[in-house]
Amino acid sequence: MDAADLSQDLSEVLHTREAIDQRLVELAAQIDSDYAGRDLLLVGVLNGAVMVMADLSRSLKSHCTMDWMAISSYGSGTKSSGVVRILKDLTTDISGKHVLIVEDILDTGLTLSYLVHNLKSREPASIEVMTMFRKPEAATTDVDVKYVGFDIPNKFVIGYGLDYAGRYRNLRDVGVLSPHVYE
Ligand code: PRP
Repeated sequence: MDAADLSQDLSEVLHTREAIDQRLVELAAQIDSDYAGRDLLLVGVLNGAVMVMADLSRSLKSHCTMDWMAISSYGSGTKSSGVVRILKDLTTDISGKHVLIVEDILDTGLTLSYLVHNLKSREPASIEVMTMFRKPEAATTDVDVKYVGFDIPNKFVIGYGLDYAGRYRNLRDVGVLSPHVYE
């Protein structure tokens, strides 16, 4: 679905699918260059990162492999519960590998902070983070992020993998959810 299909539920469109596509091409070129000559393992964080993983990986000109983790720090509401749990672990042994974690959004930073710490203990050759969206005003935990798609305001955003109560992930654009939907 596109923003036009959801005009009642969106108070603002932040980034169109065209802008997202363009930014991903730029990031992919940077990643291709940074990882030249090295085997790259992309670790996607379910569920939200499905869209960015699919598009980023296909924008790369080099080979990569992919694996997935499922982490949950949110319930069905609009605020973090503050609790991080591993719901699904990797199927790959990452020791000695060059790992790039791929996320849809860095909000408080709790999820990525936990994940980086957890994966570092498995002794990868290197570990970096890419997030499509980041809310600088919401950060409560410092996370070293190498690749950022867009910094966005501290509002409840949906689309391009980002959900509210499981819905809106299949919106191509990214926008701000109208308060009437969740109030
Ligand atoms: C979202 C998002 C990140 C996390 C970011 O995941 O995909 O993983 O929240 O928030 P934080 O920086 O405050 O930790 P969520 O737990 O909602 O699961 P989902 O990917 O299935 O939507």
